[in-house]
Amino acid sequence: MEKRLSSNDYVIIKALDDGVNVIGLTRGQDTRFHHSEKLDKGEVMIAQFTEHTSAIKVRGKSQIISPFGEVFSDGK
Ligand code: TRP
Repeated sequence: MEKRLSSNDYVIIKALDDGVNVIGLTRGQDTRFHHSEKLDKGEVMIAQFTEHTSAIKVRGKSQIISPFGEVFSDGK
């Protein structure tokens, strides 16, 4: 299986509020949180889907840019 990562694996998350959480979920049988990163307003995280990360959950108000386009998550 191809293990190399491409630029398509990247997602950009820009926090539009303080306390945005970017959560990585594990790949494989068992889907659980393995990492949580807290971003304050204006901070940017550039993340990849990897061998260990199959899904990314974003909580809080942010702008998310991926190869599929741009989407905004809402705050509570
Ligand atoms: N160690 C994790 C990994 O290689 C780091 C990581 C990659 C991550 N993408 C992420 C953590 C997205 C949170 C969200 O998979």
